[in-house]
Amino acid sequence: MITVIGSLNMDLVVNTEKIPRPGETVMGRNFKQVPGGKGGNQADAAAKLGADVQMIGCIGDDSLGNILKASLASDGVKVDSVLVKVGISTGIASIIVEDSGDNAITVAPGANYELNTKDIEGLSQIVKKSKVILLQLEIPVNSVKAALMIGKHAGCITILNPAPAATLDGEIYDYVDILTPNESELEFLTGHETGTLEQVEAAGKLLIDKGIKEIIVTLGHNGCMHLKRNWRKHYEAYKVKAIDTTAAGDGFNGALAVCLNDGKTMDEAIQFAMKVGAMTVTKEGAQTSLPLKTEVDHFDSWVVSRFNREDEKQ
Ligand code: RIB
Repeated sequence: MITVIGSLNMDLVVNTEKIPRPGETVMGRNFKQVPGGKGGNQADAAAKLGADVQMIGCIGDDSLGNILKASLASDGVKVDSVLVKVGISTGIASIIVEDSGDNAITVAPGANYELNTKDIEGLSQIVKKSKVILLQLEIPVNSVKAALMIGKHAGCITILNPAPAATLDGEIYDYVDILTPNESELEFLTGHETGTLEQVEAAGKLLIDKGIKEIIVTLGHNGCMHLKRNWRKHYEAYKVKAIDTTAAGDGFNGALAVCLNDGKTMDEAIQFAMKVGAMTVTKEGAQTSLPLKTEVDHFDSWVVSRFNREDEKQ
């Protein structure tokens, strides 16, 4: 079983030609509400890929929270451990997606920040029963640390996706088996530039020296890099047309957790997760863009048909 401990947000999405600069007003084209939140997205990704997934997180006592919970449940995520916090709003994310597929996201965490260490201790039996636990940083860092400690002591595979970037005390790394930053999060965590593959490797090594056993750095259209002590492997990205990059990292992390839960090697897990990340950027929205296992199984023919369709348009 996989347990995802993290955030649930309703994404309020506007598409526009270009993300506005500070002080600028631009006209958007449309507005959509899409279930999101890094925790919810990662749980949803894993469930759509066929895994047994439990979600731990918080919503407010409002209609957005009910919609998020129902949506995850309908995709197969177990939501009995999604707690309702009274008198506080469900988390939302304001997302602007520009025509290049890039986005700018601002999160108002609401109930997500109410997931406290007592809640985590109360749900510790679920964490202990899991083979893999997967966390991000849209909930309080001390709750992340508490869950990682419980999971690590119980022998779970612990994955931390340090997104969005936040200051972490060094001790938290003792409880993380696999850290999955993107290049800007790696730069934040290490203070080391990550503009080239060599810089990514050097920055990753700084964290390995701090005790992290394995790091997978997601690099967008530059693929990803897997780092262990005295080991580096770079994976090229699949070439697809990006429509919306929202939740690509979440798809990657969810897929990684699924493969490790199934006993796959890390190499197999990364190759599969790369496919899921690539498919995610070709559709709009967060949970709406995450592929089903059957779709990923047909990835090779899917890539060909996608390219043909793109060729036809040109
Ligand atoms: O990773 C994408 C997610 O980040 C969005 O769904 C948004 O809710 C924010 O949490």
